[in-house]
Amino acid sequence: MTSLKGKVAIVTGGAQGIGRAIATGLAENGARIVIADLRGAEEAAAAYEDGVGLTIDVADEGATERMVSETVARCGGLDVLVNNAGLYASLEMRAFTEIPLEEWRRVMDVNVASMFLTCRAAVPAMRERESGAIVNISSGTPFRGVPFLLHYVTSKGAIVAFTRALAKELGTDGIRVNCVAPGFTLSEGVKQHPEIITALRDASVAARTIQRDQVPADVAGAVSYLASDAASFVTGQTIVIDGGQTFH
Ligand SMILES: NC(=O)c1ccc[n+]([C@@H]2O[C@H](COP(=O)([O-])OP(=O)(O)OC[C@H]3O[C@@H](n4cnc5c(N)ncnc54)[C@H](O)[C@@H]3O)[C@@H](O)[C@H]2O)c1
Repeated sequence: MTSLKGKVAIVTGGAQGIGRAIATGLAENGARIVIADLRGAEEAAAAYEDGVGLTIDVADEGATERMVSETVARCGGLDVLVNNAGLYASLEMRAFTEIPLEEWRRVMDVNVASMFLTCRAAVPAMRERESGAIVNISSGTPFRGVPFLLHYVTSKGAIVAFTRALAKELGTDGIRVNCVAPGFTLSEGVKQHPEIITALRDASVAARTIQRDQVPADVAGAVSYLASDAASFVTGQTIVIDGGQTFH
């Protein structure tokens, strides 16, 4: 039973793409949705009953604190945090020697430090309820060692380690921390970059045992499960969702 009735869930980067599909899945299971995004948060949130939209940059410490304090003030508490916002399709695929240091640092900031900040802000509110579920969005790329996106792949590998270590720290608080690792997904962000579709789409489909395109909705069910009491004894885990391309 994946009921999330009465639960409050923040989805970062939830205005479009995989995050939007995750928010819809959580809402279908009864959660009240808070969309936290750089842009389009309020418009996206308006699609959900009592949805809340917050315009924030997840790499900004003060903004992540505001994200949680506004959620608690407007929704009465916080039960679920989905760390989905990240930089991916806008990144140029290139040899690691060509990656500017500034870009490397921005990827680490938005994809990894953001989770440290959002979790640090959210955990006190979850501790107050003596329960909570955090779901982090990684990627299949660290398990396959995908080339030409070294900063991205490194950041997504870090999220798996982050998930395991934080799960160990928070178990006694009743807070579970898990991770979902999607394969190449036709999200809005990806669709805005035809060059990445040319580079990865056909090869990804061919490498899967379920040979079709992956869409954002493919990721939603696992996140709802991990957020719910159905997963009450599951923590520190990573579920790869890529049609059987990667075994981990
Ligand atoms: N699309 C894929 O193939 C794929 C595969 C594996 C993992 N992922 C991961 O899934 C997540 C979502 O990817 P997507 O393809 O749906 O992306 P997308 O570009 O379609 O959507 C990303 C959303 O995150 C928001 N965002 C970006 N930076 C932000 C920031 N600093 N603060 C707040 N919001 C921010 C954007 O505004 C956007 O709404 C990312 O973490 C990505 O790495 C994507």
